[in-house]
Amino acid sequence: MKNFINNDIKKVIKDTLRLDEALSAQQKQFNINTDFLSAENIDNHIELYEGYIKNFNEANAKLDATDKDNVNSNHSNFRSLKLDETYNMNGVYLHELYLANIADNASQIQMDSLAYMRLARDFGSFDAWQKDFLACCKGAQCGWAITYLNTYTQTYMNAMVDLHSNNVPFGSYPVIVMDVWQHAYYRDYLKDVNTYSKAMMKQLRWSIVEDRIKKSDKIIQVLRGQL
Ligand SMILES: [Fe+2]
Repeated sequence: MKNFINNDIKKVIKDTLRLDEALSAQQKQFNINTDFLSAENIDNHIELYEGYIKNFNEANAKLDATDKDNVNSNHSNFRSLKLDETYNMNGVYLHELYLANIADNASQIQMDSLAYMRLARDFGSFDAWQKDFLACCKGAQCGWAITYLNTYTQTYMNAMVDLHSNNVPFGSYPVIVMDVWQHAYYRDYLKDVNTYSKAMMKQLRWSIVEDRIKKSDKIIQVLRGQL
């Protein structure tokens, strides 16, 4: 049988999922330096991120010892912990993606970059992607706007995710992530999510996005049996 997944793809999967480590989240460090968010806002946000790590790890540890025989869909400890697990895991993952792709004071996108070309291809134009993404920022309830590789359509799409777990598309690999929970902006922008989102978009860290798009291209190659 052909070795379907080559070493490059294995590394992408391992780096993304940390398959060779225990299923627990480790805190990452982020240097957020931007005039568009106050230090108090950023500090408060990092505290929330740390809380999601703690709650994910706790839910995960408790699940190991939780009764899996007496489970039902109305209420059971197993069900509650499984919901907590996904909610907090998404909270950790999305915050890490968000914090890594904002606050680039020298933000710049090149027209010959993969990011520019892929977004222009799948949305009709780069401006159309941006308009759709900002619409998702405004349309999400407390949640997220996300540009992701859809492994079903094999194109890039935008999604609104409410909270951390509602309306999450299956088979998605996120490449651009914007936090539009009120805690992300209310201290500095009150309820004006549009101004906050536009400010964050001006400082998107395109070098990080480009790296994610390169990985997405490899995922598509694997799906097509080309790697
Ligand atoms: Fe947040």
